[in-house]
Amino acid sequence: MERRFERKVLLGVSGSIAAFKAAALVRDLVKAGAEVQVVMTRSAHDFVTPLTLATLSGRPVLTDLISGEGTWNDHVHLARWADVMVIAPLSANTLSKLAHGQCDNLLLACYLSATCPVYVAPAMDLEMFRDASTRSNLETLKVRGVRQIGPDSGELASGLSGEGRMSEPETIVARLHADLVGNSKLNGKRILVSASGTQEAIDPVRYIGNRSSGKMGFALAEEAAMRGASVELVTGPTNVVARAVAVNRTDVVSAAQMAEACKLKATTSDVVIMSAAVADYRPANPATSKIKKKDSALSIALEPTEDILAWMGAHKPSGQVLVGFALETDDAMNHAQGKLERKNLDLIVLNSLQDAGAGFGHDTNKVTLIGKGTKAEALPLLSKAEVARAILDRIETLL
Ligand code: CTP
Repeated sequence: MERRFERKVLLGVSGSIAAFKAAALVRDLVKAGAEVQVVMTRSAHDFVTPLTLATLSGRPVLTDLISGEGTWNDHVHLARWADVMVIAPLSANTLSKLAHGQCDNLLLACYLSATCPVYVAPAMDLEMFRDASTRSNLETLKVRGVRQIGPDSGELASGLSGEGRMSEPETIVARLHADLVGNSKLNGKRILVSASGTQEAIDPVRYIGNRSSGKMGFALAEEAAMRGASVELVTGPTNVVARAVAVNRTDVVSAAQMAEACKLKATTSDVVIMSAAVADYRPANPATSKIKKKDSALSIALEPTEDILAWMGAHKPSGQVLVGFALETDDAMNHAQGKLERKNLDLIVLNSLQDAGAGFGHDTNKVTLIGKGTKAEALPLLSKAEVARAILDRIETLL
């Protein structure tokens, strides 16, 4: 199976002859679905051109904390953006600076600001690698949780042979994949996610809709793709864009279209998450031309739509994990629990509308996870990406 690595990678390139391998590393990461932001030290420019790495990564390469007059390259933002930071090659000089907390370039500032996992791929000559200070600097990083890849043994640029060669790009990508994706139980699984709200036509111009933005469903789809799942995303109208390449998106408008698209994919999915806010009712007789304004009141007869999740519960293949969402305003826990049983679900995610920052349109959400026969787990207010991680962590325990 093709190895996917749909992560945001902050790639630090320092000054070593092995910097030429950074080009292949960027190419391999991008091919695997990663977004790569390259940060180089000045001396790395002597070994590989920023233009090469910018072209391969599709993003401008950054070097200085301040570039040009008053343009600040925000290391804090870069570090927070990244899912993982990789420093490859790691020269003896940059290693020493990392170990001692120095901060005289952008790469070092990003390292100090990083909250994500950090990997280093050292590259230097044999004796430099053997030197006691190099050993102790690597040990310092290891104690701080930095993960080391390589170096390999073999022919070195000096003509000597021994330990010090930067690991090959494919070895680095394989290690990142194994650590950050490979252990997920969702790796290689098929997952269906529905997102956003549906629109039910009143006439060719108007519709009945709801306030769902699609952000939660898209966060779930992206996180599942990051974990190596192949994702089918069925979404109602939305402005949200799916970042992950392995997400196969189907756009629908009405509840009936969503039902058709979801049913088609549900029975072959290992996991189904219905996060869409599907209309419960639609106009029974939508007008074929625009309804004209009159002085009298207007009534629109509504008929129920099909409950897609209930259909899925009734047709659930054995071994499938079926997850529903609930948005309740009164007696929330009891209603959510009832829905879990009635619709034959394995997990229900209870949304809060009561808390500031939770629910429709926000980038944050506050949910309670209710599984079959387990204690409800109330999560704090989190970003929708973090909520997606928590939901998928829980789903992994059910697989
Ligand atoms: N859902 C669905 N099809 C519908 C309506 C809802 O698949 N026609 C799914 C939603 O995607 C969500 C779950 O059902 O995962 C809960 O939706 P909600 O509208 O809250 O639940 P209902 O079963 O409609 O319950 P009630 O109206 O009684 O609150």
